[in-house]
Amino acid sequence: MKIGTPLSDNAVRVMLLGSGELGKEVAIELQRLGAEVVAVDRYANAPAMQVAHRNHVIPMTDPQVLNGLIMAEAPHIIVPEIEAIATDALALIEDAGLAKVVPTARATQLTMNREGIRRLAAEELGVPTSAYAFAGSAEELAAGAEKVGFPCFVKPVMSSSGKGQSYVESADQIAAAWDYAEQSGRVAGGKVIVEGRIDFDFEITLLTVRSRDVDGITRTDFCAPIGHRQVKGDYVESWQPQAMSNAALKSAQDIAAKVTDSLGGWGVFGVELFVKGDQVWFSEVSPRPHDTGLVTLGSQHQSEFALHARAILGLPVDVTLREPAASAVIYGGIEATGIAFEGVAEALAVPSSELRLFGKPESYPSRRMGVAVARGADTDQARERAREAASRVKPVKA
Ligand SMILES: Nc1ncnc2c1ncn2[C@@H]1O[C@H](COP(=O)(O)OP(=O)(O)OP(=O)(O)O)[C@@H](O)[C@H]1O
Ligand SMILES: [Mg+2]
Repeated sequence: MKIGTPLSDNAVRVMLLGSGELGKEVAIELQRLGAEVVAVDRYANAPAMQVAHRNHVIPMTDPQVLNGLIMAEAPHIIVPEIEAIATDALALIEDAGLAKVVPTARATQLTMNREGIRRLAAEELGVPTSAYAFAGSAEELAAGAEKVGFPCFVKPVMSSSGKGQSYVESADQIAAAWDYAEQSGRVAGGKVIVEGRIDFDFEITLLTVRSRDVDGITRTDFCAPIGHRQVKGDYVESWQPQAMSNAALKSAQDIAAKVTDSLGGWGVFGVELFVKGDQVWFSEVSPRPHDTGLVTLGSQHQSEFALHARAILGLPVDVTLREPAASAVIYGGIEATGIAFEGVAEALAVPSSELRLFGKPESYPSRRMGVAVARGADTDQARERAREAASRVKPVKA
């Protein structure tokens, strides 16, 4: 792998599609390795744009606009950071050999729709998942819910961060769940998945890295499992390592290997799994760094962002854990533009704590505006510290 000089003819140009807080850390790691970074999102001054060589504001779901921008920028590598992208346009670009899509265009197509990845995992690869059914109307949803049983989860097939999701305990809640999914799904008139609830002990993200080893052969490495707590489908804290039995860890790695082998390419994957005793179920996968993996900024020698940057450039990776750590989300709390943060000094006075303030131009109550990361002797201490540091940061109107 040869890396040129940014802003010259031999630069390795990397285009980020999606410029949020995860993309910002990936951009920084790419910058450190001397890549030329172009950040793209649908709004101006997005976090990764603030640390990129260039940026563009476009509707990334519009295939023509997206294709036009790719032609104009001629990136060598395209790195999707979110799911809401015209992935068919990426497939054409990849087929024509114009750029490499991370990890593969097919992976971005399959994972942007819950139906694609669920059918691949459960029906083709045979990995354990919750019972599930798909529905295109309230009537089909009622039938699907009877099939998978109550309680169950209803989710738009195109959605993320818990948007449009309902927890349904009985048949009389079906109509409301359908309406809610319809309103918040990414595509109007879309489908939903209904999933039987898995009564897990805990859930993990198993960061799985596919990279090129020094002999040019693709290898798979697993980070230590990350435990996390979700509220309304959105992560509020995570920690690493999550203690689990050897048998469960082995199953988790087997499932992650199967799914990521099938998706292919190089890069980090966030494999979401449910664990009960020695039993493990596959939930979903992000073919990119995962929000719960923000904890790796403190816990690993190479964060998930550094791992992603290395892997996509064809460079070797090291997934080893350095120390137990935890992350806790800092929410906007208020609705305002150009907010300020009070209590930063107090937060950083918490032992071994770090902060990332993402620099998002607009705040709203449930928007993730920053994260606190802290290390500790064990994950309990790290979680306490991360929560304490996060709680000391107060978003205020400027
Ligand atoms: N079948 C299920 N059984 C038990 N819990 C579930 C199930 N499906 C979802 N959950 C809970 O809801 C959370 C969010 O679900 P899921 O990951 O499918 O949604 P998402 O919108 O993609 O969220 P994100 O984008 O934050 O990963 C899960 O992490 C889990 O806590
Ligand atoms: Mg999820």
